[in-house]
Amino acid sequence: MTRTAARVDGGSPGVAGPSGLVANGRPETVPQSALRRRWQLARWILDPTGYLRDQVRHGKDSFQVSVFGDAMGSGSVFLLTEPKSIQALMSRDTGSEFSSPGELNLILAPLLGVRNTILLSGAAHRHRRQLVMPRFHGEHLQNYARVIERITRQEMASWPQEGVISVREAMQRISMGVILEVVFGLGQAERHGELESLLTRRLAMTATPLTSAVLFFPWLQKDFGPLSPGHRISQLAAQTDALLYAMIAERRAQPLGERLDVLSMLLEARDEAGEPLSDEDVRDELITLLVAGHETAATSLTSALYWLHRTPHALDRLRSELEAAGVGAEPMKLPYLTAVGQEALRLHPVAMLSFARQVETPVEIAGQCYEPGDLLMACIYLLHQRPDLYPEPQSFRPERFLERQFSPYEYMPFGAGVRRCVGAALAQMELKIVLATVLGEMDFESANARAVPQARRGVTLGHGAPVRLRRIPRQRATAPAAAL
Ligand code: HEM
Repeated sequence: MTRTAARVDGGSPGVAGPSGLVANGRPETVPQSALRRRWQLARWILDPTGYLRDQVRHGKDSFQVSVFGDAMGSGSVFLLTEPKSIQALMSRDTGSEFSSPGELNLILAPLLGVRNTILLSGAAHRHRRQLVMPRFHGEHLQNYARVIERITRQEMASWPQEGVISVREAMQRISMGVILEVVFGLGQAERHGELESLLTRRLAMTATPLTSAVLFFPWLQKDFGPLSPGHRISQLAAQTDALLYAMIAERRAQPLGERLDVLSMLLEARDEAGEPLSDEDVRDELITLLVAGHETAATSLTSALYWLHRTPHALDRLRSELEAAGVGAEPMKLPYLTAVGQEALRLHPVAMLSFARQVETPVEIAGQCYEPGDLLMACIYLLHQRPDLYPEPQSFRPERFLERQFSPYEYMPFGAGVRRCVGAALAQMELKIVLATVLGEMDFESANARAVPQARRGVTLGHGAPVRLRRIPRQRATAPAAAL
């Protein structure tokens, strides 16, 4: 039986266009040998941005990829790079046309477990989001502003008067401190140190493009003896679990009182069936928030500091804005600082892709027909590189965010729809407060002789070499006030 594809945008079915559609409007796919598929996967792992840029050289706004192997089941996977198509997908991902099953994110299970916001589906996913989201909004966020500034100042106090700072490590200590306090609250300094060390070691295992391969080949995660990566992964996982379960047990034994942290909230919560969350649920959610909230924030801070110190006019303009605002200024209200954060996340989107959405009914987007079971993802990296939206897309130009507004489907570092990032507001606030606190008091110059390329870091986009800044004596900004 032939089914008619529902149109969710202005395209027309069955039209063979310049992008090489076949008669029924399905994107043309070139059969690939097993060897070619392996080559594509190697490129996606080792040079993800090069791989993505190559795909759009053929002028297509959406294209099929075969780099996820078994990680996502048997559905064909397509990446969308054009705002209207992405809107058609992400504004209808609640069930009847597209769904967003957590099982599609199984690649993250070795890191996060399966009973968490990212891997849950349907009603359980909705319920968990409703539980977690309020802790990252409103008055809670205001409390975190003070935490972020305090932790940033503690870190700055450890920096030498002169000499070079390893930016990622410093930003990682800040973002780890912030997320530990948000998730666990104050008062467990010893436990925090232990957890920080375990998480850092665990994440370091996928910190380079090559070691990230462990996530793409499940067999590499098996324990083949003391020298295998699988052995180290399972040892670190067991130690982390033991610590988290001990923290959960201690907290269960205490009166929760007025505690506002995420752990206390999870212990008080009920699931969609009215039952308390199990220790496994709590553990999986805790580790998800710790990992998602710490790696991503550290990368975006590193990226903003890197680009600012390679773009003198942007650094000068930001410093002028901070000087004019003075001590005690409200960083959230500074327009150029906001634009710097936005541009850092445009040029370096930590998540190159959204999570996958699954097609539920035959559907057409921009003249291309998709079948039930097909998997569609927004390619955030390529969307942010579109020259029609962002002229000179490789340049760091915060001004573009002051000159025009971008729709939620033109600029989407935090995704959109039912899986939009839970920590988006916290991450944006952290970016601004850390930059304002550091650059409001200290001056640096780049200590990288060469440009630092973007490179895979686990499932995210990180840096291919250490970003380093050299501290220099304090100088006055020279950007004219009129530029602000
Ligand atoms: C610069 C920092 C960050 C970036 C760029 C980022 C980006 C993203 C993206 C692109 C998604 C997928 C959205 C989609 O598929 O539509 C996502 C989901 C998520 N993020 Fe973030 N994120 C950041 C920080 C954080 C923080 C600080 C937290 C936690 C405190 C967090 C927790 C999550 C969670 C739990 C999800 C899954 C949501 C769901 O499945 O419903 N993220 N993030």
